[in-house]
Amino acid sequence: MEEGKKFYPTGAYADLRKKALEDPEGFWANEARNIPWFRQWDRTLNWEEPFAKWFEGGLTNASYACLDAHLDSHTRNKVAYYWEDEFGNTRTLSYLQLWAEVNRLASALRMAGVKKGDIVMIYLPMIPELPVSMLALARLGAPHSIVFSGFSSQALADRITDTGAKMLITADFGLRRGKYIPLKVIADQAVRTCPTIRNVVVVRRGPAEQEVDMEEGRDVYYHDLLKNGDAFIEPEKVESAHPLYILYTSGTTGKPKGIVHSTGGYMVFCKSTFKWVFDPRPEWIYWCTADIGWVTGHTYIVYAPLVSGTTSFMFEGSPDYPSIERWWELIERYGINIFYTSPTALRMFMRFGEDPIRKHDLRSLRLLGSVGEPINPEVWEWYFKAIGGERCPIVDTWWQTETGGVLISPAPGCGLVPLKPGSATFPLPGIDVGIVDDQGKPVQDGTRGLLVIRRPWPGMLMTLHQDPKRYTEVYWSRFKGMYLAGDYAIRDGEGYLWLLGRADETLKVAGHRLGTAEIESAAVSMHFVAEAAVVGVPDQVKGEEIVLFAILRQGNNPSPELRKKLSDGIRTLIGPIAVPKEIHFVGKLPKTRSGKIMRRILKALATGTGIGDVSTLEDATSVEEIKRTYEEMKAMMAQK
Ligand code: WT7
Repeated sequence: MEEGKKFYPTGAYADLRKKALEDPEGFWANEARNIPWFRQWDRTLNWEEPFAKWFEGGLTNASYACLDAHLDSHTRNKVAYYWEDEFGNTRTLSYLQLWAEVNRLASALRMAGVKKGDIVMIYLPMIPELPVSMLALARLGAPHSIVFSGFSSQALADRITDTGAKMLITADFGLRRGKYIPLKVIADQAVRTCPTIRNVVVVRRGPAEQEVDMEEGRDVYYHDLLKNGDAFIEPEKVESAHPLYILYTSGTTGKPKGIVHSTGGYMVFCKSTFKWVFDPRPEWIYWCTADIGWVTGHTYIVYAPLVSGTTSFMFEGSPDYPSIERWWELIERYGINIFYTSPTALRMFMRFGEDPIRKHDLRSLRLLGSVGEPINPEVWEWYFKAIGGERCPIVDTWWQTETGGVLISPAPGCGLVPLKPGSATFPLPGIDVGIVDDQGKPVQDGTRGLLVIRRPWPGMLMTLHQDPKRYTEVYWSRFKGMYLAGDYAIRDGEGYLWLLGRADETLKVAGHRLGTAEIESAAVSMHFVAEAAVVGVPDQVKGEEIVLFAILRQGNNPSPELRKKLSDGIRTLIGPIAVPKEIHFVGKLPKTRSGKIMRRILKALATGTGIGDVSTLEDATSVEEIKRTYEEMKAMMAQK
């Protein structure tokens, strides 16, 4: 079926894709030989739907694969990370130096009682100690669970509670737009409600004169701890399915889901996807602008570039601080060759025009990447011209926290296909993508449907932490034998895939995934809010913005103070990224007879675009009722 279509991958790339889908296990077994194993696997895939165990019987270690495995080659003295912060402080770590610090920390952590299987929380900003901590824990076989350092103490506490972790690694301060953020104070607030935590390791990186409270017997400075460590500790030989990490992401209901990633399958997927998508040459310098607190950073700042022996640049700072030229200045100074960022950042830069860019020499760039949300064709064109000088291919990479690595993207490392602005093009080799209707039947080309993956891949999440039932329900219960991604997609007449955004009640605000339910439950946890509903509305820069509708409890009247209290409350419970752009206090919420909130009415009210063409597809409410409710709500809001 692929043959004969003009733009499908051709030649060697087509053969690779064909082979991969004809014999997926043989294909992935071959890929698995690209990472080091202490013991070869007995079985490539043990698939008891929906639970996949890749490379069963194999023993490996992610820290070994990322570090030790390079020490016998010239990569030993190659730079692993160039690092710089907002103030221009720098640090450079070669693979050997990184290996040495990881060993020392791992050894010290072992002496502090961390052993295989213990989950350790990390709440750190973008400093070199973050990858060092991840790799040290991986060396011990202790899964890490990183909480983005912009999340609130409550969000941190929720995640600690869910993992039951005994240790937290944090820093005295974070740094944001020239100001120090009191990370340790926030961490202390969280730990106060988490009795499982026995030790807190604190990286000192704030101003020397500013002391933080250290609790005797519980808290220890990272650099003091390091002094206890030996120079070398054997990496733990872990089973391929041993969890490397747990990373929380928002779902449609309830609390965030703890995505569990494996060691063997995940590392194989890191290695292969990095080669296919970014095609790095040995001397190239690569910069992924994500924060390691999100999956993009886990995979494409830490595990994939390191297992591939690539030199990365790592930056702690905001794109527009102290000036809008900061990123371009860094690309020029470090001679960045591969640049991987988000559409949100690009849209922000676009508003400032090309002058700030033209002041810098960006000719080192060879390849550009985009991730996190659909990239608008105009933004793609601008990226291609203004940043890439019409010289660099753009890899628009579609993936998710759950997928572990890229599934759909142009793959220059396999063979380049003609690019279409706004299309992530084709699935990577071995990835079996389908687009289906509500019944799970494939839709025609050109018709929007739900994106599914029809067979497991090595980077696939193993389960949800301590909730295999929810894992099965969320991803595998809608259609038999298919992983439900939660996105809408279209395949065009030439086979190109167009990812159209979430099909469920999650939002993408500046590329960050947030559950409407999560924000709603934060709102109603405030004593003056009776009911709340959240919708996403389009935003020029952030892609989507949050609009919150709230019913106040009796005895409370809408006021600017309450509005502020509500947004401050959400900031405290989740973090700044979840703060609504608008809050509307309303007397009622539009609901179907079965009690479901009619979000399209709220969306229409929030965008002011009107209700448009009403159909009753998703809810059993009549067209008249929807229209009437909409008019009622509109009138109600106009009174304010
Ligand atoms: C959701 C996953 C994958 C790392 C960052 C986000 C959206 C991601 C693209 C893209 C269109 C994209 C999807 C997906 N998304 N990349 N290239 N084109 N949409 O990870 O927070 O788990 O979010 O991000 O909607 O489901 P995440």
